[in-house]
Amino acid sequence: MLQALRTKELPKIEEVMLTFIQDHTSNQQLAESMAYSVKAGGKRIRPLIVLATTASFNEQIDVNTYHVAAALEMIHTYSLIHDDLPAMDDDDLRRGKPTNHIVYGEALAILAGDGLLTGAFQLLSETSLEAKKQVSLLQLLAKSAGSEGMVAGQAGDITAEKKQVSLEELVAIHRGKTGALLTYGFVAGGILANQTDYVMEQLQKLGQHVGLAFQIRDDLLDIVGNAEELGKNVGQDAKLEKSTYPSLLGLSGAKEALQSELNQALAVVDELKEVEVFDSGLFQELITLFEL
Ligand code: IPE
Ligand code: IPE
Ligand code: MG
Ligand code: MG
Ligand code: MG
Repeated sequence: MLQALRTKELPKIEEVMLTFIQDHTSNQQLAESMAYSVKAGGKRIRPLIVLATTASFNEQIDVNTYHVAAALEMIHTYSLIHDDLPAMDDDDLRRGKPTNHIVYGEALAILAGDGLLTGAFQLLSETSLEAKKQVSLLQLLAKSAGSEGMVAGQAGDITAEKKQVSLEELVAIHRGKTGALLTYGFVAGGILANQTDYVMEQLQKLGQHVGLAFQIRDDLLDIVGNAEELGKNVGQDAKLEKSTYPSLLGLSGAKEALQSELNQALAVVDELKEVEVFDSGLFQELITLFEL
């Protein structure tokens, strides 16, 4: 059950992140600023994907799994700190708390992001995994987080403000800014569980559908959700004239697109049932989290 992973394993991942920050940050204010955003919590979806994928293929969850999941969550947390900066989405509420730059100022918020980003790679380079696996995980994280992944998507998101983009362009933006890190969660889990090329391809596909669904849902919640439940302001996309699924397809079109991505994700899980050692339960449960 997903809940068992949440209660048993997620606290250990938080501990890995906080211990890393404490032990490897030479400036006290910087350490505080980095820890502030990590401690603020969030849903921890990406670490949960790493854990669920590993467990679905009956691979033992151990300290190396925690390190991979913690590295991914550190990158995600950095992306949120920078996403909220005045030069980007200019938000003052995140994970139910004032955003990092509201508390620590812009300079320290930028540096906290830098520290979390760089620290993620340091943490991931310190596992006891065999060298080949470790290099694959590092290389893939760099691709997923960087200028052909999340960072490219964020650039696309900013340049698509106040503009009419095609659905194809929007898919590419969402795949980058959100899909790339979510996909990493599935694929990294597959690497940890020593999966075949066939399974890795399916995990990649699963990640792409879940990633797109996740951002379509986020775009919808910015219209139909509320700040108290989400822990972040709503109505921001309209205010900044962002290109989103609802702005392009309308509310009902966006809802249909979300359902279609989730159905395609479930179809991939069905395909994976052919694999000898695979329990589909966790993935099925995970996919329901992305329903509206
Ligand atoms: C928010 O991600 C940013 C997007 C990619 C839409 P999450 O919704 O996973 O944020 P937290 O981690 O729960 O705060
Ligand atoms: C952010 O997308 C994606 C990343 C942080 C990479 P949004 O800008 O829509 O995320 P929220 O709504 O601020 O969480
Ligand atoms: Mg943004
Ligand atoms: Mg934002
Ligand atoms: Mg959003």
